[in-house]
Amino acid sequence: MKVLLIGSGGREHALAFKLAASARLSHLFVAPGNGGTDAFGENISLNVSDHAEVAAFCLTREIDLVVVGPEAPLVAGLADDLRAAGIDVFGPSKAAAQLEGSKSFTKSLCDKMNIPTARYQRFDDVEQALNYVRQQGAPIVVKADGLAAGKGVTVAQNLAQAETAVRDCFSGAFGEAGAEVVIEECLRGEEVSVFAVCDGERFVTLASAQDHKQAFDGDRGPNTGGMGAYSPAPAMTPELLAQVEREIIAPTLVGMAQRGTPFSGVLFAGLMLTADGPKLIEHNVRFGDPECQVLMMRLKSDLLELLLASAKGDVSGIKPEWHGEAALCVVMAAKGYPGAYETGKPISGIEGAQSKKVRVFHAGTLLKGGQLQSNGGRVLNVTALGASVAEAKTAAYQALDKINWPGGFCRSDIGWRAIEAEKKNS
Ligand code: AMP
Ligand code: GLY
Repeated sequence: MKVLLIGSGGREHALAFKLAASARLSHLFVAPGNGGTDAFGENISLNVSDHAEVAAFCLTREIDLVVVGPEAPLVAGLADDLRAAGIDVFGPSKAAAQLEGSKSFTKSLCDKMNIPTARYQRFDDVEQALNYVRQQGAPIVVKADGLAAGKGVTVAQNLAQAETAVRDCFSGAFGEAGAEVVIEECLRGEEVSVFAVCDGERFVTLASAQDHKQAFDGDRGPNTGGMGAYSPAPAMTPELLAQVEREIIAPTLVGMAQRGTPFSGVLFAGLMLTADGPKLIEHNVRFGDPECQVLMMRLKSDLLELLLASAKGDVSGIKPEWHGEAALCVVMAAKGYPGAYETGKPISGIEGAQSKKVRVFHAGTLLKGGQLQSNGGRVLNVTALGASVAEAKTAAYQALDKINWPGGFCRSDIGWRAIEAEKKNS
């Protein structure tokens, strides 16, 4: 089969790595890809926002499946336009991608389907939003409504932070995404991610994972796209997973089908495990990055079969199998990320860092004249397998020490919660 994978992050490098392992794959194109994906496929330049150009490429090259990595092309309706041209796509329609594209859309669905989530109000007026925040007090969560690359959310610990966040949203700090603001109750508990591959009606959940959103050690500092991840998440017991499937995933799919906008692709439910049970923080409509990297290291089954089943509309026969080992991923980011950072800095030592149990997935990298350079905020994802999360962590950091990139930084405590839980249980 010929596959076109869209995206350029660590998530897409991990997807390319697993797609390339499928016996059914004959050729993989990655648009645009990065400095790592070309080891598993052919990087090509396509204007992904020009849907007709993508469709024409797929028809000429006889592409059997398009896998859309990031959310933006899905929210822009790429999957709809490709399907209209008769091309199979892994990823939801524009209407179903609203689950990620609009926080207020998902909140309304939660109301309608009784899905447990944080109490909230939405505002399109700055003064009303400020009054509400003052009334509720801190801690409180302020969110720009639309897509903001994971950076449009402020968990405000005091009123001043909350008021600044509200003003930032309305003053255009997140562009169009901030024209409407959702203000939520601050949930307490442990965060986990649940991924369900869906076919519009049925779903199959994948192994559990957890990521670290904050930039600095101790889960401090500004929110980022994710500074590291691990799988499995010890907090996600089989009983809890069954509850999440029953109370959150299934009603989401039923609600979407009832609206006439069935969801297919991967539903990524970001959850808080509160004292009152699991609550939905947000839905995303694509794999998490870097959660995908740890899932792909642990996935034993054929990824292409799984994605194709979703695209073809029947996941009922699919039962993914997982390696028993844990996986942990440490993100190396450019100094300054998630704020301003430099690009174009040389990177070396990646080959020496890799082994049977360690893979370095590229995110923002670029090969220029044979030299690998940094080309983004999150740049490398050092991902290792180990008998436990603690052992995977040791292996990942040992590998990371072999990489030479003075322009980068990473957190030193990825996996700390899981490792504490492992110690308690041993
Ligand atoms: P989101 O983009 O909605 O996933 O939010 C980004 C991060 O902000 C989440 O992963 C949480 O760590 C945090 N967050 C979002 N909503 C809440 C909430 N209601 N209570 C506590 N933390 C939250
Ligand atoms: N790691 C979180 C995300 O992909 O949104």
